[in-house]
Amino acid sequence: MTAIAPFSPRILPLLKAPGRDDDTSMTLDGEGLRCIETGESYPFLRGIPSLYHPSPEEGADVTARIRSFYEETPFPSYEGLEEFGELVSKGQSNPFSRQLLDAIGYNKLVLECGCGTGQLSHFLQLNNNHTLGIDLSLASLGLAVEHKTRNQLTRASFCQMNIFELAIKDDSFDVVISHGVLHHTFDARRAFASIVRKCKPGGIVMVGLYNKPARFPTWLRSKLIRTFGPKIDYVVRNRIKDARKADVWIKDQYFNPHETWHSIGEVLGWFKENDIEFLNCSPAIMDTDGETAGGLFDRTGPGGSYRRAVTQASWLATIAREGALFDVIGRRMA
Ligand SMILES: C[S@@+](CC[C@H](N)C(=O)[O-])C[C@H]1O[C@@H](n2cnc3c(N)ncnc32)[C@H](O)[C@@H]1O
Repeated sequence: MTAIAPFSPRILPLLKAPGRDDDTSMTLDGEGLRCIETGESYPFLRGIPSLYHPSPEEGADVTARIRSFYEETPFPSYEGLEEFGELVSKGQSNPFSRQLLDAIGYNKLVLECGCGTGQLSHFLQLNNNHTLGIDLSLASLGLAVEHKTRNQLTRASFCQMNIFELAIKDDSFDVVISHGVLHHTFDARRAFASIVRKCKPGGIVMVGLYNKPARFPTWLRSKLIRTFGPKIDYVVRNRIKDARKADVWIKDQYFNPHETWHSIGEVLGWFKENDIEFLNCSPAIMDTDGETAGGLFDRTGPGGSYRRAVTQASWLATIAREGALFDVIGRRMA
């Protein structure tokens, strides 16, 4: 495979040395990254750029368990998506990723926190966007970089980082996404506060989390899956053809070492704490203009607590069978 630069020229200037409050700048040298101000070197690990810095002490145990889980089980699996054309066609046929790319538009800087194997980051670098995917897991990032190199995706960059200690300058990205990640951290609220700082004022923040109560049926199935086997899962029965891909999905859903569940109201509280204006929710909140919104980033109403409760109860019959992820989208106030 032909070598390719690890960082796009629009992403490298946004990096800083990990574990420091000041905005130092980074450069590439032969073996890895180097801080221009301090001269400190950050070598690539297994060929992956790494600016990893440990979690605060109280979260170190969860971070270590999650890290070792995703080192063994990189998610999502690439099976059948090795060529970029296949990944694009999957992204275009998935309403969520298609709407997301449409809403992001062109020439944007996109940060994906907890990118896993990088499939979404690769899809979103279409339209001349430049993406940075960060993750704890070197095994996942290894697959992301392999796919990037095979398909020569120069606008997608990847780096090992910890969400709690992001080695990224504040106010840098037009769009910050974290989909299916923060509920695997020791403190989702604190992780949210960490990622929003990387969004430019006026930029978009999107967070996808396991929903309370819609995650309850998955918990119930986790108690039964050893007896009844993987076919108990709707996605395995109806969507996944490949055995390895099904195995990765089952481990991620039913054998994960740490997860928490969250409500729309709770995320609205995080938005308030971090000066984020609510724009939209996916799936939409019932009987609000979210149901008719043309685009994912359109400004809609959050509804009252009764509507949100009814919406979340209704998700027991919809998203509950596919992992119970909901996304809340907001704009960082200027
Ligand atoms: C379920 S996967 C989601 C991957 C991808 N976002 C997706 O939707 O397919 C969760 C990912 O979050 C990453 N992760 C969890 N805690 C993290 C942390 N503190 N810092 C960076 N990444 C983290 C894991 O390594 C894993 O790759």
